[in-house]
Amino acid sequence: MVFMRSVSDLDTPSVTILIDRVQANIDRIQGMVAGAGFANRPHIKTHKIPQIARMQIAAGAVGITCQKLSEAEAFIDAGVADDILITFNIVGEKKLERLMALSARIKRLAVVADSETVLRGISAAAVRHDRVVPFLVECDTGFGRNGVQSPAAAVALAQLSTSLPGVRFEGVMTYPVGTPAAKIFLVETLALFAAAGIEVPIVSGGGSPALTSLADFPMLTEHRAGTYVYNDVMMMASGVAGWDDCALQVRATVVSRPSPDRAIIDAGSKVLTREQYYVKDFGRVVEYPDAVVANLSEEHGMIDLSRSATKPEVGDVVSIIPNHCCVVSNMVDRVYVVRGDQVIDIYPVAARGAVW
Ligand SMILES: Cc1ncc(COP(=O)(O)O)c(C=O)c1O
Repeated sequence: MVFMRSVSDLDTPSVTILIDRVQANIDRIQGMVAGAGFANRPHIKTHKIPQIARMQIAAGAVGITCQKLSEAEAFIDAGVADDILITFNIVGEKKLERLMALSARIKRLAVVADSETVLRGISAAAVRHDRVVPFLVECDTGFGRNGVQSPAAAVALAQLSTSLPGVRFEGVMTYPVGTPAAKIFLVETLALFAAAGIEVPIVSGGGSPALTSLADFPMLTEHRAGTYVYNDVMMMASGVAGWDDCALQVRATVVSRPSPDRAIIDAGSKVLTREQYYVKDFGRVVEYPDAVVANLSEEHGMIDLSRSATKPEVGDVVSIIPNHCCVVSNMVDRVYVVRGDQVIDIYPVAARGAVW
């Protein structure tokens, strides 16, 4: 779609992406990951937009990572990539059938597993469809989410797979890397695999904050970063991005100035979300860096202006960098693609709501 109008003509709230920053982020991180000697497999859950995945692949990504089957379905429908890793246990007959249908459509569709139950499910479905599904053993290296709990358990699952038809062990995967605990876990795991005489062709790490410590993880063969493509307040807090690297912004209108120190904008939790993780407040106001997005209700954003020397008036439009850009992507049907002061395109968020 070719489209041209001034950014100032956009109604609010609207989500814009500054496309030159997106391209710069893609190029910079592609260089960092390739420079560390790893394959780059960006996680598309951040943008959920096939056009952006194409930019990542054009820059040198070997394929993409999806969190959910439905994301993979959207991206395979769009013909973006023929090498996809789904980093989420696939459980239940309905999902296994969808996995089989998808795996027939591209060159390589790999999955993860962290238990015998998950692996046996994939194996049985693959046998029914006469397929072989590559898988990585997911390791919980300290994050406290999915993953086998010890290096020995990782080896045991890989060993079990040799007796199961329809699955092929291709390596190990964890999220995130970058921590001392992750390093110790991976070193011990690879030593145990070596002692057992089992090759581990793929060691897949992940996370944008980990990008600055890739040199400490020479055992990786590929890296999956997602948030780097847009960046946000969390990435700023992690030290992996500057404000000028933040490509996604929510434009919002000041609709009320109920008191001298308060402005209300027309973007609340239904656009910005209430995600905070390890940062405070609910986003940064680009034009008023000393203002604080202090609270949100569904449709209202409450901005505390008490520390801001300048203050917006009713009717002014402000740009907010969200705390966590990935969840904002899932809140809107489309993003406006901006260069300079022009909207040059509109990208539908093709995998919006694709969480199943
Ligand atoms: C399994 C997995 N890999 C990679 C990523 C990408 O991490 P980040 O968004 O920090 O770049 C995530 C993020 O949630 C993830 O869950």
